[in-house]
Amino acid sequence: FTAELDASDIEKGTYQHYMLKEIEEQPLVIRKVIQQYQEENGQLVIDPSIVEALNEADRLYIVAAGTSYHAGLIGKQFIETMAKIPTEVHLASEFGYNMPLLSEKPLFIFISQSGETADSRAVLVQVKKLGYKALTLTNVPGSTLSREADYTLLLHAGPEIAVASTKAYTAQLAVLAILAEVTAKGRNVDAEIDIAHELAIVANAMEELCDGKDEFEQIARDYLTVSRNSFFIGRSLDYAVCLEAALKLKEISYIQAEGFAGGELKHGPIALIEDGTPVFALATQENVNLNLRGNVKEVAARGANTCIISMKGLEMNGDRFVLPEVHEILTPLISVLPMQYISYYAALHRGCDVDKPRNLAKSVTVE
Ligand code: G6P
Repeated sequence: FTAELDASDIEKGTYQHYMLKEIEEQPLVIRKVIQQYQEENGQLVIDPSIVEALNEADRLYIVAAGTSYHAGLIGKQFIETMAKIPTEVHLASEFGYNMPLLSEKPLFIFISQSGETADSRAVLVQVKKLGYKALTLTNVPGSTLSREADYTLLLHAGPEIAVASTKAYTAQLAVLAILAEVTAKGRNVDAEIDIAHELAIVANAMEELCDGKDEFEQIARDYLTVSRNSFFIGRSLDYAVCLEAALKLKEISYIQAEGFAGGELKHGPIALIEDGTPVFALATQENVNLNLRGNVKEVAARGANTCIISMKGLEMNGDRFVLPEVHEILTPLISVLPMQYISYYAALHRGCDVDKPRNLAKSVTVE
């Protein structure tokens, strides 16, 4: 008797799917990212020519697609909060055909797990022609977007096989946070946060979440067994995470899922709420916690089946899950984990092909 194993089984180890393996690699990936960008004295470092390029720019333009675009939305907050450089975030497929009015000294930042997305590459080619500098954040050394940009920062997430991106997203956030802090130092702005230290806390919190994943499987059973649609609401950084959460759920479970800004519900989306509609709410941001709670009440009053995931210190009675505490600005790195697990289990329970969802490709190399 010989066991029938192929290479992919071995790489997956004891995991049923690459997606689950990649979700659970996140604590390690964050530690690896810190290590890759840290000197022996504990200081975070980035190639000085990159820091200089950011500091010379009067505005940054982040261009990306899919999950990488969602990481860009959070990266904007990191850069504006810590380094104080105005930053715009654009979908590559839109930017290419409808270029915004550019500032005098723009710098382009391309975020791409694969480094091969055709829409992003088309923009890179255009802006290079215009004579502008570009930095690529990618997981794949030597990829097209890396070769064709002036500078590259690697994500160090290791190969990501599942079509739905998980560990590359949190690695993108970690590298963007490091970039923001180092750039702040380079321009003598006080970033007011020790990113290396705070990311180490994030890695521990991620581990705690992975250890408690059974709770997320239960949430998937409780909320997503029969539903055909679902909503994710949040404000500020939580809103950006909700967009990513909704993308994750729809791409692998085929349940219609939409992310909305809590305050926008009353301007339209609330019309979709019916008895039993699942609404996931993220509550990790103190300044909008009460507003968000108000939005949850509004949907609950219309029959929604609400699931609040809050942050330690902001929790209230009835919250379904309370996340371990990390620095407020870094909450997206951990609040996305329950969402990744919930999507994974929802897809699994529905018998979907988790790693290879229908109609999707890991890397989209056509425009
Ligand atoms: C595809 C993948 C997504 C990914 C997007 C951007 O649509 O299915 O998971 O987020 O491309 O890919 P990139 O490699 O540029 O990050």
